[in-house]
Amino acid sequence: MARSSQFLALALGCVALGASVATAQAQGQVNVYSYREAKLIQPLFDAFTKATGIKVNVVSASSGLEQRIATEGANSPADVLLTVDIARLQDAVRLGVTQPIKSAEIEKIVSPQYRDPAGNWVGISMRARVVYASKERVKQDAITYEELADPKWKGKICIRSGQHIYNNALFAAYVAHHGEAKAEEWLRGVKANLAQKPSGGDREQARDVAAGKCDIAIGNTYYWALMMNKDPDKKPWAEATKVILPTFAGGGTHVNLSGLLLAKHAPNRANGIKLIEWLAGEHAQQIYADANYEYPIRDGVAINPTIASYGKLKADTLPVTRIGASRKAASTLVDKVGFDN
Ligand SMILES: [Fe+2]
Repeated sequence: MARSSQFLALALGCVALGASVATAQAQGQVNVYSYREAKLIQPLFDAFTKATGIKVNVVSASSGLEQRIATEGANSPADVLLTVDIARLQDAVRLGVTQPIKSAEIEKIVSPQYRDPAGNWVGISMRARVVYASKERVKQDAITYEELADPKWKGKICIRSGQHIYNNALFAAYVAHHGEAKAEEWLRGVKANLAQKPSGGDREQARDVAAGKCDIAIGNTYYWALMMNKDPDKKPWAEATKVILPTFAGGGTHVNLSGLLLAKHAPNRANGIKLIEWLAGEHAQQIYADANYEYPIRDGVAINPTIASYGKLKADTLPVTRIGASRKAASTLVDKVGFDN
């Protein structure tokens, strides 16, 4: 703990501590900038240190880490950036703060669909964007994303802002599958079905289903598991709903990634790659996916029982890069149809 707070102080710009980082490097360390909650990932980093002798220094923040690496420039202590969502992975690449992760191991383990063709990022776990349906009022156990625009759901759908990165990625996938004109028509249909103006996070949508304000909500797979298993106050929201894995008509379920990038000026580059490879390993994947209630990025690792209870995930095969390419179009459509109004 003391070590990581010292590192934090340094990273925040305390020049006097510069010498101690140089020493730290010589001792075999790796510096991780992370958007993920420290208490969730620390056990994983402890296991890495135990296995390799390499110490892991973590800087956690909920925003701005890519910009920070950019500002620190060639002097940035960052080796690895641990982040969530396609948008953030792409933003980091666009900011020019990454370098290709050259690893035959990663290429072997992680399907090409879940890594950057240029090697700048690699997925480490997956989450699906699904439906939380009222157990009481929704009889069906299957649904397509297309069906969310069906007038039969008029006044029955709850969802957070259409501009939130999770919905942006889902809508971008819709654009990539169907084209902009069809996507616009669909978004207008979904908008017409909303029970209320989009607000709150994914958990609040489940809350509103439980309260009878809507019949179906859109949320990520892990929030439901967190409410059910880790948050007694919100457990009734999960208990009032069932998770349905929607699919694109004739296709699969939309998934998003949490992922890793190698910083452009990584002072401990070799250790950074070692950590990335280790996190893709079977042991780490088991711990990571279980702790975060996510789907492992590789085959052969057991899925957390709550997540597995949703049914077998058949992930959409659309490459993540194609979703990324449609993000802007999706955002423009959300404004155009007044989705959040
Ligand atoms: Fe989230």
